[in-house]
Amino acid sequence: MSTMRLDKFLALSGVGTRSEVKKKIKNGEIKINGETAEKPEMKVDPERDSITYGNELLSYHSFLALMFHKPAGCITAVSDPSHKTVMDFIDCPQKSQLFPVGRLDIDTEGLLLFLNDGDLAHKMLSPRHHVEKTYYVETEGILTEEDILAFQEGVDIGEKNPTLPAKLTILERGAKSKAELTICEGKFHQVKRMFADRGKKVCYLKRISMGGIKLDESLAPGKWRYLTEEESAMLQILK
Ligand code: URA
Repeated sequence: MSTMRLDKFLALSGVGTRSEVKKKIKNGEIKINGETAEKPEMKVDPERDSITYGNELLSYHSFLALMFHKPAGCITAVSDPSHKTVMDFIDCPQKSQLFPVGRLDIDTEGLLLFLNDGDLAHKMLSPRHHVEKTYYVETEGILTEEDILAFQEGVDIGEKNPTLPAKLTILERGAKSKAELTICEGKFHQVKRMFADRGKKVCYLKRISMGGIKLDESLAPGKWRYLTEEESAMLQILK
């Protein structure tokens, strides 16, 4: 294998995003062959050099990605004293190198991607890159054409700016309505706050796709699988 920049290697090894790993290098937390690494742009050879973060010897997987069908009742965090976390469900050998791309609320179900590439995860979450996320939503209250237009134009969820244009497709109207909503940003509780602005309460929320990758419906809640080559390629385009 050829050489690569140290900060890239660290991001691919799951140590953190490019800016996080730069800080760790600056703080002297990274060693190459026993010597403290000096600069993010230093070249390393992942096959020959021994690169450590604290006591951990880092190994390199060029790209690792999996999808998880998050059940309700667990939180998107690496550890938590009182709740089950999404990490408790992931039992692959590379678990320590993976982290979830974004968050789903405790009561939200559906697609959660895990990557070992901090930079890519960061890009997928940044509104600048317009990565689409689609949610299946059930609401209390009848959804209307006005809701479709309001989401297209952007609604006020109490942030500095209105939400970016979003696409609402109504599937069923009634006391309990069903719809799909596609957004390309991910503010805290975004979907629930968007519907709240329209006077509707979300009573069920499930993410069904992200960045063009659809939740595999044969994956039961609580189960994960590696992405296929085609699915991985769809993410790598974003790099
Ligand atoms: N929007 C929400 O309100 N909750 C989620 O879990 C995801 C998007």
